[in-house]
Amino acid sequence: MVHIAVLLLFCLALAVDPAIGFYGGSMTFTPGNRYPDSSVEVHFYYRESSRGPCVSYPHWICNNVQCGNIIYTEPEVTDQDHSDQSQWCQSEVHMTTNISSNAPLVLSNSGCCWTDNIQAVGRWTLRTDVDVGRRSDTQSPNRSPVSAAVPNIRVPQNCFQSLQLLAHDPDGDVVRCKFSDANCSSCHEHTNINLDKDSCTLHRSGSLNPGLHVFELILEDYPVSDITVTNADGVSSVRDAFNLTLNSDPTALSQVPLQFGVEILAPVQSCVPDVNKPGFLTPTPLNGDVHHAAVGHMHEILLRAQSSDSSILDFQVSGPFNMSKTLRDESDGVAVATLSWTPQKSDLYRHVPVCFTAETLHSQSEMRCIVVVVARSMVLSGKAEVICKGDSISIVINKASMEGIDQNWLQLRDPTCSLTSNETHILGSMSLNTCGTTVEDSGDYMVFKNEINSFETPNAVITRRNQVKIGFSCQYPKLASVSSHYINHKSDYIFTESSFGTFGYSFEVFTDSSFSSRVDPNLYPVKVKLMDMLYMGIEAHSALPKVRLFIESCRATPEDNPYSAVYYDIIKDGCVLDETVKVYPSASMKYDFEIQAFKFTGDFDEVYISCSVILCAEGSPNSRCAQGCLRQTSRRRRRDSSQETARHYIIQGPLRVSRETRQHDAANNGGSQHVSISTGVFAGLFIVSVIVLAGMLVHKIRKTRPLDRMHLLSSF
Ligand SMILES: *[C@@H]1O[C@H](CO)[C@@H](O)[C@H](O)[C@H]1NC(C)=O
Ligand SMILES: *[C@@H]1O[C@H](CO)[C@@H](O)[C@H](O)[C@H]1NC(C)=O
Ligand SMILES: *[C@@H]1O[C@H](CO)[C@@H](O)[C@H](O)[C@H]1NC(C)=O
Ligand SMILES: *[C@@H]1O[C@H](CO)[C@@H](O)[C@H](O)[C@H]1NC(C)=O
Repeated sequence: MVHIAVLLLFCLALAVDPAIGFYGGSMTFTPGNRYPDSSVEVHFYYRESSRGPCVSYPHWICNNVQCGNIIYTEPEVTDQDHSDQSQWCQSEVHMTTNISSNAPLVLSNSGCCWTDNIQAVGRWTLRTDVDVGRRSDTQSPNRSPVSAAVPNIRVPQNCFQSLQLLAHDPDGDVVRCKFSDANCSSCHEHTNINLDKDSCTLHRSGSLNPGLHVFELILEDYPVSDITVTNADGVSSVRDAFNLTLNSDPTALSQVPLQFGVEILAPVQSCVPDVNKPGFLTPTPLNGDVHHAAVGHMHEILLRAQSSDSSILDFQVSGPFNMSKTLRDESDGVAVATLSWTPQKSDLYRHVPVCFTAETLHSQSEMRCIVVVVARSMVLSGKAEVICKGDSISIVINKASMEGIDQNWLQLRDPTCSLTSNETHILGSMSLNTCGTTVEDSGDYMVFKNEINSFETPNAVITRRNQVKIGFSCQYPKLASVSSHYINHKSDYIFTESSFGTFGYSFEVFTDSSFSSRVDPNLYPVKVKLMDMLYMGIEAHSALPKVRLFIESCRATPEDNPYSAVYYDIIKDGCVLDETVKVYPSASMKYDFEIQAFKFTGDFDEVYISCSVILCAEGSPNSRCAQGCLRQTSRRRRRDSSQETARHYIIQGPLRVSRETRQHDAANNGGSQHVSISTGVFAGLFIVSVIVLAGMLVHKIRKTRPLDRMHLLSSF
């Protein structure tokens, strides 16, 4: 019996045993000591993924005896599939060798068997080019570009648009990516995917068949200014600054491999981040962020993601092998992972890539990667305060908290922007689009970042000042609710979140389709005849650079409650549903539209309109704005607005329209469609704006409204 059971188990194991094979790898290296015999110790960190249970092939071969003896640590698992399927695993190995060569060296590692893939790629080869010559700018050997990828990237077929890879360089070099051309010249390129070499981003350019697609890339680094590289014999070679406009083919300082698979899954109904697939929420680090950690001090990285359709089961992580992960659930389908890592002495000066995704059973979030830089001790800390306003960022640094800090040796990202100081504080102030401030899309927030760095006189070998690096950012929520303005025209609706920034929005009614003169607030409520055209405009007020306003929804309700049981969706999930709406072309921060006036059936004489709006970074391919209209199947209504409000800390303004008193007259007078309402008396009560008032022309509406609206209205 026992034998049969074991046999059965064995057969079962074979039946579910996933394919085993190579599933990608990445390498980074960093030089260590230079010994008196002028050999340089080089540390290599190699991460390898396997399909199925953990196996690793750390057998690197050098093309030159001067590579020395490569000493390997045991491969340690960094992350693996914890489901009983054991679909994937990633491990890291640390290798050290003393290189005494005067010339660049090539290390390589290869094997027979990529895991089954639809391009039928079998053999894999990883190649690393190292040069231990001394760079004139850093006075040290070159450090390689830094990148990594999670072992198991999965995307439903209709959701794959682009994949941005980490391309960090510890020396501040330009990093470029290219398809590996080891062995054959173009066979490693992908026919339906383009690689943007400068941003290391893969873009879909054609249809992708379901199955595993294999990507074999190489990262190269080039100096940003002219430097020389001097070898142990004192022979120097010049390396020109990287210049895209020159059509030359410069030699890279180094090359490292980045290989991974992308599993294209069967298409899904919809790809809305946060709903159908997990979307990251604040404070998850942004792709490319740099964290600072110190030897012996635990460093924590907090990941938060949301998926309201199916629960987040895990976060997949590619990190250093001693990094631990704890998971916890919050409400509304939000899951949180805390990654903790305590760098050891041997990690000193490393730039460690950490990549992560959030996982549900049938989908995966975008992959983000950051870099953790390890210093000897905690980075200088001081007291600084960041002030986020609608159109500017200020930072105030307390001098007393940072010994020997000198404003004259500090600069913002754009060094032409100057810092000022008084006796006690150093002050920096910039608008959101100046001084090198960058904007990124964190998923639920827009993040504006800049940093203050110390600088040195060019080519200085020593310094007598403390090195300072103060990164700072302002975060602005992307989603807000707006409604039209107040009667007294204190008007603009202000959206606030404490400790974050503030944007102002306005929602106005205009007199005509030029959207140039708004209806005088003193004339509110607006006098409208039923079926008249109403001209309305929403605008975000801020000097935001490269930002786009997106109207996610606009809903009409007969009472001052946007979550009223009776409602009519004018715009929903970014789709215009009302066919009388016409959207006018306007600047990226505005949304002008017209709509034919209507009213609710039943005993209602008021109409309120409230909209939820989102600001997105221009050109952010995964943002809600880029997705536009998303027609959800009715299987599940998008998360209701009240939850969105809670999640995005929306403060909803009161909406009120004056009570209409002439409805019975109008109803009795049903043949007329030009009943204009006088509401001056009630103007004082009228808080937020909007719309439409006219007599009860119910039957008239039924005759002239398009069918589905009629149905909607009469179903109340
Ligand atoms: C490199 O050389 C130094 C000094 O000779 C020695 O102590 C060290 O163990 C060597 N490292 C490797 C990886 O061979
Ligand atoms: C790149 O080369 C062009 C042509 O020689 C030159 O005009 C330009 O200034 C160079 N750019 C940089 C950033 O060096
Ligand atoms: C990994 O972590 C454990 C405990 O946190 C520690 O004892 C060990 O030295 C670490 N190993 C390395 C190589 O950092
Ligand atoms: C320097 O400026 C800061 C920030 O504006 C202010 O709080 C501080 O009082 C000023 N100190 C002096 C001595 O004026």
